[in-house]
Amino acid sequence: MPKEIRSSIVVVGSLNADHVTRVDQLPRPGQTVTGREHRVFCGGKGANQAFASAKLNGHVRMIGCVGTDQAGRTLTSNLASAGVSINEIMATESAGTGMAYITINEAGQNQIVILPGANALLVPEMLEPFATTLETARIVLLQLEIPMATVEAVARRARKAGALVILDPAPVQPLSAALLRSVDYLTPNLGELAALTGQPVNEGIPIAEAAGMAAPLAAQHGIQIIVKMGDQGALCVRPDRQHHHWPAFPVETVDTTGAGDTFNGAFAVALAEGMPDQQAGFFACAAAACSVTRLGAQAGMPSRSEVDALIRSSNPSHQSAGTPL
Ligand code: RIB
Repeated sequence: MPKEIRSSIVVVGSLNADHVTRVDQLPRPGQTVTGREHRVFCGGKGANQAFASAKLNGHVRMIGCVGTDQAGRTLTSNLASAGVSINEIMATESAGTGMAYITINEAGQNQIVILPGANALLVPEMLEPFATTLETARIVLLQLEIPMATVEAVARRARKAGALVILDPAPVQPLSAALLRSVDYLTPNLGELAALTGQPVNEGIPIAEAAGMAAPLAAQHGIQIIVKMGDQGALCVRPDRQHHHWPAFPVETVDTTGAGDTFNGAFAVALAEGMPDQQAGFFACAAAACSVTRLGAQAGMPSRSEVDALIRSSNPSHQSAGTPL
């Protein structure tokens, strides 16, 4: 299939209504805390990645499943408002739209519980009508809030047809070797990387140590691993164990919900525009930094001009687009 008649970015994933409560401190097990504010936002890792890409001028289609309820309609129309093609989002009467219960502390850190609802009904057979969409995609974005069998089937089909496959392993769960064979970029955060590699979670670890955690996985499966490290930036580890670090852009953090999704959406747009992945990661870090300055997953996502402005205002050492270690 010639590249010019391929659609750019296809997201297959979840849509959730995010019920967000702000608190001073996240509750410990058994503890009750008092919330300060409760709001409902558009979210879901799949929808977030589609929304982020479209806001940054990506040409995006989303395949997903919502209920026939108001939440499903709101989520779908919010995607459309950003320019996402929503014709392949199905509405089912068999379940309600997915929901997420999110608690955010003063530092913008979150705890998230999801109820998959209609997202769990997106089984591989439901994708048959969309074979052409998958087979003509240049880049396919996947996460793990839909059934694993669907993720595996989409990755296999898209990769076979020549697409680049980016998998966000969240919420983290074991990944088969067959799935990893169909993936180009795996994008865990540090906690997810620790779970995937059976190592202890160690926030704030040196970059070289995080690279050491990811290197065997990257080498074993021949994949690029991009580790999203919050205020430590992001790290790309290649199958030959070479790695590259992008520092974080210093910003005031209000809410980190959806920052990882913004990174993936922006990374896909940059690759679709032909940027090399080192430059794409730099752009994605800037987009993720913009997103944490506002409340809400999709509500906090930046426009292209905001990301460009942050990049322009960053200091020259930052503009060197990261450091090979
Ligand atoms: O990645 C953030 C997202 O995780 C939220 O929008 C929530 O819906 C959960 O899926």
